[in-house]
Amino acid sequence: MSTEKTPVTFASSFERDIYEGLTADPKFLYSKYIYDRRGDELFQKIMELPEYYLTRAEFEILRTHRKEICQIFRGSKGFDLIELGAGDGKKTRLLLEELDKDGAAFSYIPVDISQNALHNLEAKLKAEFPTMKVLPRQGMYFEVLQQLSSYNSRKKVIMVLGSNIGNLLHPQAITFLKNIESSMNKSDMLFMGFDQKKDPQKILDAYNDPGGVTAAFNKNLLVRINRELKGDFCTEKFRHWECYDPESGTAKSFLVATEAMEVYLKKLDLRIHFKPWETIHTEISQKYDDETVTWLANQANLAITETFTSTEGSYKNYVFKKQ
Ligand code: TRP
Repeated sequence: MSTEKTPVTFASSFERDIYEGLTADPKFLYSKYIYDRRGDELFQKIMELPEYYLTRAEFEILRTHRKEICQIFRGSKGFDLIELGAGDGKKTRLLLEELDKDGAAFSYIPVDISQNALHNLEAKLKAEFPTMKVLPRQGMYFEVLQQLSSYNSRKKVIMVLGSNIGNLLHPQAITFLKNIESSMNKSDMLFMGFDQKKDPQKILDAYNDPGGVTAAFNKNLLVRINRELKGDFCTEKFRHWECYDPESGTAKSFLVATEAMEVYLKKLDLRIHFKPWETIHTEISQKYDDETVTWLANQANLAITETFTSTEGSYKNYVFKKQ
């Protein structure tokens, strides 16, 4: 069935993406748009939730193995440490502190879609490490990836923490890895966190906390659309819903309409209709095992050279090089 879409011109990719997502069948919204100022704050709260094990597990890995990890990063002429999705840098700080302590020659290039997060991060690092070279870059992975190969005067270490790759389905994850690989030289490395398959209940709890922080975070998409596109979404009429498929390892987040409704986005002059229990898909969060990571790496001509595992094996960081 074809839906009729009015041809519209958009003032931003945000407008275009929201229009496309809400006129699609089934409806979807990109989770990257959750992260405005309030979204960043709610995500900070998520990371502190007892149920949200990811951040703590990766923090533990970095704390326990920081010496060895920093040793692996080092290059004969120093290195550029490029972090995609730097966020608040709480975990990276552990490594930066270690690198600063033994006077490693490096620049830290945090990349994030959130200007707000980058700004806070830069201020914090300047205060704590006054002599450190911090060169923040605002942008989406995709745009920044294309410029990665311009960092080629010395070794580069590309770092993606927080299992951010899990926001991509496997085919897109392979494209992402291939893009990184094509910007890498022989001595460069990629350091990445991958959340692992585990007790499905633990995963569900991490993405559906009883206090409703994750629900508020997911619904922040609607709040943002209301504010920026003059919408009238009634957020109480949506439920946050989480599913986890233990076979594929894919966790999915939805917003589900609890009744029929019409929503109007004044800025786009767009009326959106919801049937009762109609869904908006907002997020995927892929979970992995060693076989899957090895397969993904292989597809992108990368090879795993080291693995660091959290105590219960619930999370792993891998070092990759070009094959
Ligand atoms: N994508 C991140 C993760 O997998 C952030 C996140 C946590 C998230 N809970 C969410 C995104 C709920 C959308 C909905 O951990």
